[in-house]
Amino acid sequence: MTNVSIKTVKDVAGIRAASQMAADTLLKVGEMLRPGITTEDIDGFVHEDTVRRGAIPAPLNYHGFPKSVCTSVNEVVCHGIPGPRVLVDGDIINVDVTTIFEGFYGDTSATFFIGKPSDEARHVTEVSRKSLDLAIGVVREGARLYDIGAAIQDYAEAEGCSVVRAFVGHGIGRVFHEAPQVYHYRSSEPRSRMRLKAGMVFTIEPMINLGTYEVEVLADKWTAITADGKLSAQFEHTIVVTKTGCEVLTRRPRPLMNSETFPLASVVSGASAAV
Ligand code: MF3
Ligand code: CO
Ligand code: CO
Repeated sequence: MTNVSIKTVKDVAGIRAASQMAADTLLKVGEMLRPGITTEDIDGFVHEDTVRRGAIPAPLNYHGFPKSVCTSVNEVVCHGIPGPRVLVDGDIINVDVTTIFEGFYGDTSATFFIGKPSDEARHVTEVSRKSLDLAIGVVREGARLYDIGAAIQDYAEAEGCSVVRAFVGHGIGRVFHEAPQVYHYRSSEPRSRMRLKAGMVFTIEPMINLGTYEVEVLADKWTAITADGKLSAQFEHTIVVTKTGCEVLTRRPRPLMNSETFPLASVVSGASAAV
């Protein structure tokens, strides 16, 4: 049985510092995204922006991962490897930034729109963002680990989407991935009955698909895609459990460009001047 560690106040301060760097880098990524750039351009920016802080991009060389950030476009569920692919109008892209600072990890991701999203692209992106928000809302000391997945699954499936099962959220601290495994669906795994305690630190990072939840991993051994080729979106935060709720350590001081500032559908269509 793997035990879930309770972080000290000092540990949480270290994870918070790394998390705030990751959050700031992600905000800046949102400002650079536009049609015509490549995913390698994003990698170059994340690498530079991380090392200039005296920090390290955690993905680089992690179990052989060749780049400093994961970039997952359209049907790519997670762990997309930056390369020469050019982003075009209508793409969606998840950018997953993990920063190591003074020995502590902070992990956060978001899905962005490139140009104008289709209704489907907007739907899956908004469902993934809201499912993370709902999951964060159930976290507090005394809640059960599976309450997180239940909140995500109930909402996402009611919205006609599916929840990826092949990848989980994870404890984090002085290592990238540690106990517990945070399922994003209602898990019957006995360890998911565990009660959350103040000082536990982990990520929640639901991957939400428009079609099947099943994924395939490409020959590069990293890139995970939806089995049916339909769109997938993801948001991720690193959080610490408290007695009354949780603190989002990767909280952003302002909304992200694109997916968090895109006008509501009613505004775009001009349906109502009052919104
Ligand atoms: N950031 C991912 C996560 O949320 C892990 C990426 S591992 C890598 O857990 F090697 F692909 F970078
Ligand atoms: Co993570
Ligand atoms: Co991540």
